[in-house]
Amino acid sequence: MTTTALGSTPFTGRRRELGEIQRALTTARCVTLIGFGGAGKTRLARQVLRELGATTTTWWVGLGDLRDPATVHLTVAEALGLHPHPGTSQVRLLAESIGDQPAVLCLDNCEHLLDSCTVLVAELLASCPGLRVLTTSRQPLGLAGELVYRVPPLALPGPEDDLDALRSSEAVALFAARAAEALPGFEVDHANAAAVARLCTELEGVPLALELAAARIRALSPQEMLAARVARWSYSAPCSPGSATATGCSAAATWTPPTGSGPWRPRSPGATTSAPARSSCCGSGCRFSLPGSTSVTPSTPAPTHSSPARR
Ligand SMILES: Nc1ncnc2c1ncn2[C@@H]1O[C@H](COP(=O)(O)OP(=O)(O)O)[C@@H](O)[C@H]1O
Ligand SMILES: [Mg+2]
Repeated sequence: MTTTALGSTPFTGRRRELGEIQRALTTARCVTLIGFGGAGKTRLARQVLRELGATTTTWWVGLGDLRDPATVHLTVAEALGLHPHPGTSQVRLLAESIGDQPAVLCLDNCEHLLDSCTVLVAELLASCPGLRVLTTSRQPLGLAGELVYRVPPLALPGPEDDLDALRSSEAVALFAARAAEALPGFEVDHANAAAVARLCTELEGVPLALELAAARIRALSPQEMLAARVARWSYSAPCSPGSATATGCSAAATWTPPTGSGPWRPRSPGATTSAPARSSCCGSGCRFSLPGSTSVTPSTPAPTHSSPARR
C-alpha cells in the first residue's frame, strides 16, 4: 500500500485518486483539490506532480506562508526562476516563460489568497495554451471551467477484513507506518488489530488525525488510545465548509494544531467571482465545479467530478 517515498515520510495509497486527478487534468485546465486542513490535499497534489513530472514540465509553488495577496504573481515568478525587474509585467514575464509548452503548475494552499490566485490562473490559462493548473485550497477558486475535486478520507478497513486486508487498508497502513516511525518494531497484529481498525474508523481516515494519533504510540497502545477517545475526541470544533463530516472534522481538530483547521479568511473586495459561486461548492457532498465569471471558459460544458465515498 505504501508506494513512493516523498520527503521524509512515505506516501500511502491513493492510487484511485491519483488516476482520477491525472485524468481530470486532461479534461479541465484548472483542477482544485478541496478539503479541510489535514485531509491530504497537499500530499496528493505533490504526488500527482511527481508522477506527471516524468513526462511533463511541472512547477510547484507553496503559498501557505504568503500573507500579502499582492505578492502572489511575484512568488510564482520566482518559483519559476524568474526575477522580474520593478515595473515589468510579472504576468507577461510568466506567460512568455511558460509559452506554448505542455506544463502543469501547482499552487498549493490558495485558500487565503483566492482572489489573487484566481486572477493569476485566469491570466496564465488565457496566455499559455499548453498550461494546466492544479491548486489545493479549502475553498474552490470559483474560476469558470475549474474542476473541483473533494479529497476523500483514506479508505478504511471493512468489518469482515482479515489481518492482511486490514493492514493494507489505506488508513491502517498510514497509521501503522507512522507508528512504526515513532516506535520501531510496532506492527498491527492479531492483538491490536481490532483496536487499530476502530481507531482509524473513529478518526474517519483523516490523514493528519491518523498521524497525530500514531505519534503517541510510545505513550499509549492503540487499545489505550481507544479507551481515552471519549475524553480526547468528544470535543466538537467548528467545521470548515468542505469537511468530510462533522465528526471527522471534530477528530481532526482535536488532534490538529490551530494552523491546520482555522476558519476561512473573508474574501477581499473586488473579487473576480461571486461569493455564492464559491461558498455554494463547499457544503458536504458537493464535488462539482461551478461557473465563475473570469475569462477562462472551457469550450465544453463545465466538467463535473465525483469521488465516491470510501469505506
Ligand atoms: N497519502 C498519504 N500518504 C502519507 N502521508 C499522508 C498522505 N496524505 C496525507 N498525509 C500526511 O498527512 C498530513 C496532512 O496532509 P496534508 O497533505 O498536509 O493535508 P492538507 O494539505 O489537506 O492540509 C501530512 O503530514 C501528510 O504528509
Ligand atoms: Mg496543505
